[in-house]
Amino acid sequence: MTIIGSPRKKGNSYQAAKKLEEEMKNKGDYEFEYLFLKDAHLESCKGCFNCVSKGDEICPLKDDRKMIEEKMGEADGLILVSPVYVMTVTALMKNFIDRLAYRCHRPAYHGKKALVLSTTGGIGVKETLKYMELVVESWGYDVVAKCGQITPPWPQKEGMKKKNRDKLLKSAAEFYKSLKSVSLIKQGKSAVKFRDYMSFRIFQTVSGNVEEYMPADYKYYKNKEYYKPAKIGIPTKILTEIMLKVIFFMMRDMGPGNDKK
Ligand SMILES: Cc1cc2nc3c(=O)[nH]c(=O)nc-3n(C[C@H](O)[C@H](O)[C@H](O)COP(=O)(O)O)c2cc1C
Repeated sequence: MTIIGSPRKKGNSYQAAKKLEEEMKNKGDYEFEYLFLKDAHLESCKGCFNCVSKGDEICPLKDDRKMIEEKMGEADGLILVSPVYVMTVTALMKNFIDRLAYRCHRPAYHGKKALVLSTTGGIGVKETLKYMELVVESWGYDVVAKCGQITPPWPQKEGMKKKNRDKLLKSAAEFYKSLKSVSLIKQGKSAVKFRDYMSFRIFQTVSGNVEEYMPADYKYYKNKEYYKPAKIGIPTKILTEIMLKVIFFMMRDMGPGNDKK
């Protein structure tokens, strides 16, 4: 599934996404579905924090958010696309990300693959791709490629065209290869990464300490071994528990509680 955050429907970002689709289809038979945030009914986040603390079903905004999330759940992979607008993603993309804020706490897409794609007049693409990568990873995706395309407002020289094309081909190849492993992951045959298990255990431990304030996280993490059925190696488990002790010692002032007077 490709989600496009440009307010220009057939602009540079869409053109880049279409080229990527062509490259992917040259390699194998993949279905592509496009979702333009420009056309979606997504209200602006009101900042109530209900989705994060109490549950996304309490979000007061009734619009296309749930439908978009369902489509993401059906697809094996995600291509998240945004042009650089003043050093970061567009407002459309940022609002979409904010509306999914609770997914950073309670991810739903482990086992799926993602590619982040950004077009720019010349600067800010590295930072924008990094930001998109962090967000998409926090939703549970494995980000396998970051593709920046330089699209200045003047005719491109051959050298720039080649650089863009090379990056696109490389990203398409990486994404294609990764999608092939999704069926194995679905069968639970792939090992859990240390980083992902660590993140799971941090959220699980914190949620156990803040049940009163974050009941949705508490409910989500309670009695779970991992985000989804998976094999977790004994060394991963042992190392994680040691690291947790260190992390929570360092973060000891951050938890809830009243200091003694
Ligand atoms: C409001 C606005 C802000 C932009 N900010 C930047 C920027 O910070 N850095 C940059 O290199 N290009 C910037 N650009 C150029 C776009 O990133 C570039 O043209 C991009 O390819 C547009 O993609 P689109 O046609 O899909 O909308 C900006 C363009 C607009 C309209």
